[in-house]
Amino acid sequence: MTATNMDDLVSLCKRRGFIFPSNDIYGGMKGLYDFGPMGVELKINLKNSWWKSIVYERDDVEGLDSTILTSPLVLQHSGHEDTFTDPLVDCKNCKARWREDQIVNNECPSCKSKDLTDPRPFNLMFKTAIGPVDDGSSFAYLRPETAQQIFVNFKNITDSTSRTPPFGIAQIGKAFRNEITPRNFIFRVREFEQMELEFFVKPGSDEDWHKYWLDKRLQWWSDQGVNSQKIKLLEVEKEELSHYSKATFDIMYEFPHGLEELEGVANRTDFDLGSHTKNQDDFKISSKVKENKDSTTKLVIQDLETKEWFIPFVIEPSAGVERGVLAILNEAYTVEEENNRTVLKLKSHLSPIKAAVIPLKRNNQDLVNLANKVKSELQSLGLGRVMIENSGNIGKNYRRHDEIGTPMCITVDFESLENQSVTVRDRDTMKQERISLSEINSYYSSYFKN
Ligand code: GAP
Repeated sequence: MTATNMDDLVSLCKRRGFIFPSNDIYGGMKGLYDFGPMGVELKINLKNSWWKSIVYERDDVEGLDSTILTSPLVLQHSGHEDTFTDPLVDCKNCKARWREDQIVNNECPSCKSKDLTDPRPFNLMFKTAIGPVDDGSSFAYLRPETAQQIFVNFKNITDSTSRTPPFGIAQIGKAFRNEITPRNFIFRVREFEQMELEFFVKPGSDEDWHKYWLDKRLQWWSDQGVNSQKIKLLEVEKEELSHYSKATFDIMYEFPHGLEELEGVANRTDFDLGSHTKNQDDFKISSKVKENKDSTTKLVIQDLETKEWFIPFVIEPSAGVERGVLAILNEAYTVEEENNRTVLKLKSHLSPIKAAVIPLKRNNQDLVNLANKVKSELQSLGLGRVMIENSGNIGKNYRRHDEIGTPMCITVDFESLENQSVTVRDRDTMKQERISLSEINSYYSSYFKN
């Protein structure tokens, strides 16, 4: 049985050190979560898997790590100051605030009063003062998407790498949104991470590239263990599209709380590069962009055949790390009543701990020394975190490592001292086999490389 119940996931995440409410000892803060010892490893593994498939396994994508603090000019010209809003409704009776789409039958979901304000736009961007004087004259935004800094670095990157379309720029990092009603655990939060690719193409080839990236991204989610049966594609209705988009497909997943967006794959046209470009009239721009008197540069590229300068179109697959983690945990969570255990059947490349090395008796120094030696050798292979589990209760160790998704437990026992072999227990089959110490490194490496 896999998880469809959010409470089961929340409880496992807290119990086993994946995810905690942020600022917990002071009562927590809504819409903020911390990733604990297991959560941080899972997140790193998920981000590495994305980076590997988007940057390392291709030859047409460069990486970027830009600042979170963003000039208001960037977000003014990108359109976010004007349009990055949700419609906010206040309940005059209980003072609760809602997004308009959460109101059913014109009734406050909390107190059921019908005494509600008309919806008004609420900008989701967080602002912070820059410098020692907080008089409102100098401020920055915490970026609401990582994408804008990719666009404003377009010239730096093309100048320093000589890239021409088709090529992409990838970035993983924090984004911040002052969500009116954060909810559903880590699904809708105020601080989260995005994995974004801006892929620049020649106008006219954009629709083919859009399809290409949609297929790639669906395959990648499947490779992370997300069941394709629980994925649905939603083409966003024209009137629902973001201000920059010509067409967007949302990759929807059946989360425990319902079918919701896991990732968006948008055709952003030439809107962003066009909006950040000076002297826009010199170029053909298909989008309706506002005049830009602040930009110091032109975000254009030369067609090597025609020698004409043009503004590329952009295809953008944009995925949330937290939503990815939630989908992956939901898929992996398995209750095996027949075996009286809960087990996280994570893909091995995502498992927070790759192997637990367990000395059978915690106080036996020979066993502990040998276990430490095995741990160090496996750790040095660089495939992820290997840990020593020296609590002395093998049953509890197996239970814990089943619940955090450790693919193998390696037990060092008295026989190990005599014949230089260890017992390896497989998480999914629970089968145990004896492996010689001289073979354990290659056994371990080939397990994770396959
Ligand atoms: N650059 C395009 C962009 O930001 P988006 O659809 O607003 O598009 C992309 O966000 C992805 O970021 C979403 O598909 C989702 O996975 C994640 N995301 C957005 N808002 C989020 C929130 N409040 N909490 C968690 N993840 C969020």
